[in-house]
Amino acid sequence: MPDNAFENPRLAALYDFLSPSAGRGDFSMYLPMAMEAESVLDVGCGTGALLRLARDSGHRGRLCGVDPAFGMIEQARKRTDIEWIHGDLSSVSFEREFDLVVMSGHAFQVFLTDDAIRSFLNAARQALTDSGKLAFETRNPSATEWVHWPDTYSGTVTDESGAEVRHVSEVHGTLANELISFSHTYTSPNWDQPETSDSTLRFLPEEKLDGMLADAGLKILERYGDWDRSVVSETSPEIITIACRAQ
Ligand SMILES: C[S@@+](CC[C@H](N)C(=O)[O-])C[C@H]1O[C@@H](n2cnc3c(N)ncnc32)[C@H](O)[C@@H]1O
Repeated sequence: MPDNAFENPRLAALYDFLSPSAGRGDFSMYLPMAMEAESVLDVGCGTGALLRLARDSGHRGRLCGVDPAFGMIEQARKRTDIEWIHGDLSSVSFEREFDLVVMSGHAFQVFLTDDAIRSFLNAARQALTDSGKLAFETRNPSATEWVHWPDTYSGTVTDESGAEVRHVSEVHGTLANELISFSHTYTSPNWDQPETSDSTLRFLPEEKLDGMLADAGLKILERYGDWDRSVVSETSPEIITIACRAQ
């Protein structure tokens, strides 16, 4: 079940205000890749921001977004010139249909178990054309970025109606079994009561990820530690992977 932040229409409507497309590092890498690909599958597409940008930038081919959260896909569906599917990769079966399969916004970290990661990687591989690419990122566990989340993700944001919504982020404990649990509380003068969202994300180490990519028949083409394409180091924030079918 996706987090309340994505499932709840009220909170999903806030997402693009909290994470505006302008200046997003992941989009600076994935948008040019999407523009080069004839067909793009965005897994965990959320409100559809990346595919919207691609269409608005002149992409004329197939753009398909998949997301299991009702609130997010309802936001995405405001655009009728893109294909949207309410579900995840286990609810569809694509066979060599996409030149790019992308997962942005650290959506990969919602997969908490090895089985969930394996099924995603297998389904993504199956969806790729012979020359297709899979692109996604996961936060580097050794950078321990979660210690800064209460500062980074707390503040105020102005919603569609012009109201100021206050959001407070709390991290519960520290990394345990590669998992971090945290919550967000949102308060608006327009709501009777605050909305909360509890979440857990997985921080998969690079070596383990590489083993799982190989097991799924995927070969790493490019690997970066940040959106400036620097190499992965102990302190780099991201583990960014661009992979293809191993054969
Ligand atoms: C942080 S948001 C990222 C949304 C979008 N990719 C972006 O970059 O703005 C994470 C998304 O992953 C979705 N998600 C949750 N569980 C999922 C699953 N099992 N498969 C695919 N997506 C999932 C959520 O509903 C949410 O929209």
